[in-house]
Amino acid sequence: MKPPFAAHPPGPRGLLAPVRNLFDLRRDPPGYFVDLARNHGPVSSFQLGARRLYFFAAPEGVREVLVTHAAVMHKGFLIRRVWESLVGVMGNGLLTSEGPFHDRQRRLVVPSFHRERLAGYAATMVEETAAHTSSWADGTTLNLAEVLSHLTLTIVGRALFGTDLGGSVGEISRAMSILLGLVERTRSPLAQWRYSRAMRAYHRARMQLDAVVGRLVAERRTGGEHDRGDLLSVLLLARDEETGAPGMTDTQVRDEVMTIMLAGHETTAAALAWTFHLLARHPAVETRLHAELDAVLPPGHTPTLADMPRLTYTRQVLSETMRLYPPAWLLVRRTIEPVTVAGYDLPKDATCLLSPYATQRDPHWFPEPERFQPDRWEEGQTAARPKHSYFPFGGGPRSCAGEAFAWLEGTILLAEIARRWRLAPAPGSPPPVPLASITLRPRDGMWMQARPRK
Ligand code: HEM
Repeated sequence: MKPPFAAHPPGPRGLLAPVRNLFDLRRDPPGYFVDLARNHGPVSSFQLGARRLYFFAAPEGVREVLVTHAAVMHKGFLIRRVWESLVGVMGNGLLTSEGPFHDRQRRLVVPSFHRERLAGYAATMVEETAAHTSSWADGTTLNLAEVLSHLTLTIVGRALFGTDLGGSVGEISRAMSILLGLVERTRSPLAQWRYSRAMRAYHRARMQLDAVVGRLVAERRTGGEHDRGDLLSVLLLARDEETGAPGMTDTQVRDEVMTIMLAGHETTAAALAWTFHLLARHPAVETRLHAELDAVLPPGHTPTLADMPRLTYTRQVLSETMRLYPPAWLLVRRTIEPVTVAGYDLPKDATCLLSPYATQRDPHWFPEPERFQPDRWEEGQTAARPKHSYFPFGGGPRSCAGEAFAWLEGTILLAEIARRWRLAPAPGSPPPVPLASITLRPRDGMWMQARPRK
C-alpha cells in the first residue's frame, strides 16, 4: 500500500536519475529489475528520459496488471520502435491485437492446443528430435541453441500447419535473429546509425518471412481446403458465426500463422538450451533426471502424452530452468485509461512492467534464489507459494496460448535428448551470455559437445 500523499511509487531519485537509469538498464536489463525489487519493494517507478515507468515486482501487483485490470491494459514493449517492428511482422495476430478482435481469434486458435490434439503432436515431436540428432556422434560439437531453434520451428510447421518447412527453416531462423537483435541495436551509443542498418536487415527479413508464410497459405487455399485437423485448417475454414461467410481474410490468416510460427518456437528453444546449460553444471540433478528417464522410458519405448504425468522430475527441471531463465523475461502493458493499481493512481498511457526474471528470484518465495534446485517444484512446496510468484507464461486473458504445447514439447525434447546424450560445454567455448531482447536467449549461441550416454 502506498504511503500517504506519495505521488509515485518509490524508485531511483535525483537529478541525474533519468540518465543513470537509461545507462543501468542498458548495461544489464534483467539485473536492473532484480535491483529495483530488492531496493524499492513490491511497487516501484523510475524515469527513463522524460518517461515514467511503473514496475510491479510482487505477485499481488502482477495479478492486478495481468488479471484484475486486463481490460484497460494494452500490450507493448519497453522500446516503442521495437514493438512497432514486431507489429510490422506479426500484423494483427494473437500476440499483438487487442479487444474483441483478439478475443474472437483466441477462441478460434485455442482448441488446437486442447488435450485431444496434443496426443497427435507428441509423435511429431519424437520423430523430429530423432531426425535432428541423427547426425550426432561421440564428440560432436554443435551450437545447441541453433539446433533447438530449427527443431522447434520444424515441429510447429508440421504439427500446426501440416507442412514441411524444410529449406525455409534456416531462412526463418535468421530472420527471427535479426528481429530479436533489434533490441541490442538500440542499446549502443551509435544506436541511431546501427539501428538504421538493422532496419534495412529487418525489412529484408520481413520480406523473406512474408514470402514463406504467403506460400504456405496460398498452397493450402488453392488446394481447396478441407479439414486436415491442424491449426491452419481451423484458420482457413473459420466462418462468421452469423453470416457463415469466410471468417478470415488471407491477411488475417497470414498474421496468425506468422505469430504462432515466431512465438511458438524461439521461446521453447531458449528454455531447452538453458536447461542443458544448467544440467551440464549440476551433475547431481542430471543423474537424478537420467534415473527417471531410464525408469519411465526403457529402451524401445518412445514418450507419448500418457507418459507425461510420470515424468515429474523432468518437468521440475524445466520449471526450475524457466524460473531462472524465463524466455519471456519482461512483460509490458500500457494503460488505456487512468487506473489504480496496487494502491497507486496511474495516468492513461502509463507503462507497466512485470518481470518474471525478477519476481522469480525473490528470496521470499524462492530461498537462495540463484541456486538451480528442481526440488522446489515438489507438490507441497509449489502449493505454498502464491500463484503469480511464478509466471513464465504470463497470466489472465493474454496468457500464453501455446502453454500446453510448450510443456509437452519441452518435456518430450528434453527426455528424448537427455536419455541418449550428455551435453557438456564445448572445450574452449566461453560461458553463454544471456541476451535480454524480446526473449532471453544465449547471445552467441550455446556451444556444446555431445557424448552418447550408453
Ligand atoms: C517455453 C515456451 C514459451 C514461453 C515461456 C512462452 C511465454 C509466453 C508469454 C509470457 C506470453 C504472454 C506475453 C504477455 O503477456 O505480454 C505468451 C503469449 C503467447 N504465446 Fe507463448 N510461450 C511459449 C511457447 C509458446 C508456443 C509453443 C506457442 C504456440 C505454438 C506460443 C504462442 C503464444 C501466443 C499466440 C501468445 C499470445 C497470446 C495472446 O495474447 O492471446 N507460445 N507466451
